[in-house]
Amino acid sequence: MSYNQQYQAVNTNYDNSYSYGFQQAQNKANRRSKLITIGSVVGVIALIAIGVGVGVGVSKSHKSSTKSAVTTTSSNSSAVQQTDPHDPSSFVKNPALKQSFYGMAYTPYGSQLPNCTNSLADVITDIQLLSQLTKRIRLYGADCNQSALVLEAIKQTKVDMKVFLANYPIATDAGAAYVRQRDLIKDALTTYGTDHVAGISVGNEFILNYLTDNGGSQQDPNGSVGNTGAALLLANITDTISMLSGMNLAVDVGTADAGSYFNTQILSAVKFGMANVHPWFAAQSIQDAAGWTADFFATTNVAAANALSNKPTMYIAETGWPTKSSSAAAASDGPSDASVANLQIYLDTFVCQANTNGTGYFYFEYFDEGWKDAQFGGVEGWWGLFNADRTLKNVTIPDCTAP
Ligand SMILES: *[C@@H]1O[C@H](CO)[C@@H](O)[C@H](O)[C@H]1NC(C)=O
Ligand SMILES: *[C@@H]1O[C@H](CO)[C@@H](O)[C@H](O)[C@H]1NC(C)=O
Ligand SMILES: *[C@@H]1O[C@H](CO)[C@@H](O)[C@H](O)[C@H]1NC(C)=O
Ligand SMILES: *[C@@H]1O[C@H](CO)[C@@H](O)[C@H](O)[C@H]1NC(C)=O
Ligand SMILES: *[C@@H]1O[C@H](CO)[C@@H](O)[C@H](O)[C@H]1NC(C)=O
Ligand SMILES: *[C@@H]1O[C@H](CO)[C@@H](O)[C@H](O)[C@H]1NC(C)=O
Ligand SMILES: *[C@@H]1O[C@H](CO)[C@@H](O)[C@H](O)[C@H]1NC(C)=O
Repeated sequence: MSYNQQYQAVNTNYDNSYSYGFQQAQNKANRRSKLITIGSVVGVIALIAIGVGVGVGVSKSHKSSTKSAVTTTSSNSSAVQQTDPHDPSSFVKNPALKQSFYGMAYTPYGSQLPNCTNSLADVITDIQLLSQLTKRIRLYGADCNQSALVLEAIKQTKVDMKVFLANYPIATDAGAAYVRQRDLIKDALTTYGTDHVAGISVGNEFILNYLTDNGGSQQDPNGSVGNTGAALLLANITDTISMLSGMNLAVDVGTADAGSYFNTQILSAVKFGMANVHPWFAAQSIQDAAGWTADFFATTNVAAANALSNKPTMYIAETGWPTKSSSAAAASDGPSDASVANLQIYLDTFVCQANTNGTGYFYFEYFDEGWKDAQFGGVEGWWGLFNADRTLKNVTIPDCTAP
């Protein structure tokens, strides 16, 4: 069966509400039940989008009480043990964790405006755990000082870890979210340098959201509405590139979007593209999920990038499988359930195989996110390898070494 046939067979009951910040989520509440009709064009499938994480609220990030502590004990010392309570680098490894993931999608707890309840102690615990699974993480935005918190945590834990920092602009705020996050990223780069920075992603599902908000039924990312949205994001991308060159820093700038929503002008302007590729939202069975993801990414995203003269590096920005749903309606994607058993199957069929194939991917995601469950319900809050309390779900982490 071709993708098209599979998609056409799907009765999409696809909730297009994802992750937005608080303010956006409210603005969009009325659109949450919108059905996206899946077209016959392979590239135009409404896939995904879960993502995210960043606050795009209206208020300014408050000065958090986080101090530049030289030594910090995790607030949840039972999640990770340290041999020296004052030295975050002395953490005890958990034999159940293996460094088998190319990368991991991560949003620090409490990094949505207006509240900013994140803390360095929690981020240190997360980095201690994440570093046992991968050498790369990606963020979704920069609000609530999360870039600096993550870089400080890497410094204190002394782990081998690189982070893709991110700026999550929104199209309708005259650039306020973009500038606010740009300046936080600039501060973090000034303080910590770029040794642990793999790149900066500007835009998260920007074109998907722009089309959803302005395009109505038009879902072509390269159509006139898509190009209007692209011009907005391109201004931000260009601005970040010039900020970096003004700082004399060589850091790659890219963007992240749903797998079917890459605009050609944007892709032509970036060093890397990160594509959400979700078998769950494409209504794949768990048995077909890993193969479908590999095939979709190769034929839709890698092929598109290779056709451009700048040949941006493509990554899978998000792929994973949810373990439960807060509503009966979203308990399955059609053929398969949200369950820990199916998460295990996805881990067993995707992770080591993608490593062998040389695919760069960010597993979605580190832990369950209660704020998404509260705002969006369904499966949105339940994609973690870890529970929200940072205990590992009942899964066996695949045993292979990621590149
Ligand atoms: C951001 O986090 C860093 C690292 O913990 C800290 O040094 C800095 O003071 C924080 N900035 C704000 C505004 O909270
Ligand atoms: C801290 O971690 C432990 C074990 O990992 C967990 O049981 C507990 O709920 C966590 N506490 C908080 C506040 O997250
Ligand atoms: C901010 O925190 C307050 C108090 O904990 C809570 O009632 C409110 O829902 C939070 N707001 C958001 C947007 O998370
Ligand atoms: C960033 O993008 C927003 C719209 O998404 C735009 O209004 C703003 O002018 C841009 N800012 C810069 C500095 O590029
Ligand atoms: C839009 O542009 C991308 C990147 O060049 C291309 O891969 C894709 O096929 C185009 N999408 C559509 C629907 O034409
Ligand atoms: C890896 O490559 C093989 C051969 O092309 C393909 O069948 C498989 O689906 C790929 N799997 C992943 C997870 O990349
Ligand atoms: C964990 O999963 C295994 C199957 O992989 C199952 O036998 C076991 O009962 C599960 N444990 C819990 C606590 O759910």
